[in-house]
Amino acid sequence: MIVIEDRQSLDSWVEQSRMWGGKVGFIPTMGALHEGHLALVREAKKTCTQTIVSIFVNPTQFGPEEDFSQYPRTFEKDRALLEEIACDAVFLPSPEVIYPPGGQTYVAVEPLASQLCGASRPGHFQGVATVVTILLNLVRPHAAYFGVKDYQQLTLIKQMVRDLAMAVEVVGVPIVREEDGLALSSRNRYLTAKERQQATALYKALLAAQSLFKNGELKAIKLEKAARKILYESGIEQIDYVEVRHRKTLACQLSVEDPVMLIAAKVGKTRLIDNMVLST
Ligand code: PAJ
Repeated sequence: MIVIEDRQSLDSWVEQSRMWGGKVGFIPTMGALHEGHLALVREAKKTCTQTIVSIFVNPTQFGPEEDFSQYPRTFEKDRALLEEIACDAVFLPSPEVIYPPGGQTYVAVEPLASQLCGASRPGHFQGVATVVTILLNLVRPHAAYFGVKDYQQLTLIKQMVRDLAMAVEVVGVPIVREEDGLALSSRNRYLTAKERQQATALYKALLAAQSLFKNGELKAIKLEKAARKILYESGIEQIDYVEVRHRKTLACQLSVEDPVMLIAAKVGKTRLIDNMVLST
């Protein structure tokens, strides 16, 4: 596996990879890789001739009080994991390679970026949309892979790609979970043993809402209430949001149709997110 750090080397690799009808699959990440990230690489490898992962802890998507400096950086382990599944290349840029001095341009996907996670993390999705645009312009992949785990992020990127007529196929990959249902996340490592136990309540809350929905409950407020109850009962008190939205647009609904439930909550100091399409 080749490790690429600068724009020029990336360009040569991309040129080579696109030759003779080659199909490039791209997986943007912030590293600290786990099975969730690897599932994206495996999905890309099914149809792409070349697969490239980027590892870049993007400063512009972290708020001033957030964990940018503490975010886990485990490159040697990440490299070994990617080698093991025969990923072709890893792009490991410095902040200067992504953001050369003098930049003035941002990508704002509004109002989607200001809702849900965007409401409590101002500027977060502008940082995500901007870095993903830069990465897509540098890598020029045929397809880019994102986890359904970050449901709002995936929705926003699909919207951005459509709005800006970007020539890339966006592929969503299902959530990879631990055996007890907790969605894999680089931030799970911050949880104490007790918090790790409590964290399973997010999945249980989603399952409870799904079961209610399947039994005919269509009122968003009732579904949300049932999920909140499970979170409270497990001792999770800092709920950011529990919301039922339209699966495709993330529009609010009083009476639900094709809904997804999204949850964000703090377990101890760690903010976790999860979601479930209720009809599946
Ligand atoms: P990061 O949190 O490293 O996640 C990289 C990709 O892995 C995202 O598309 C995310 O949805 C996916 N992912 C994480 N956990 C997953 C799980 N349990 N199951 C399936 N997929 C999972 O998301 C980001 O980085 C950044 O915002 C990024 C898009 C790289 C822009 O900086």
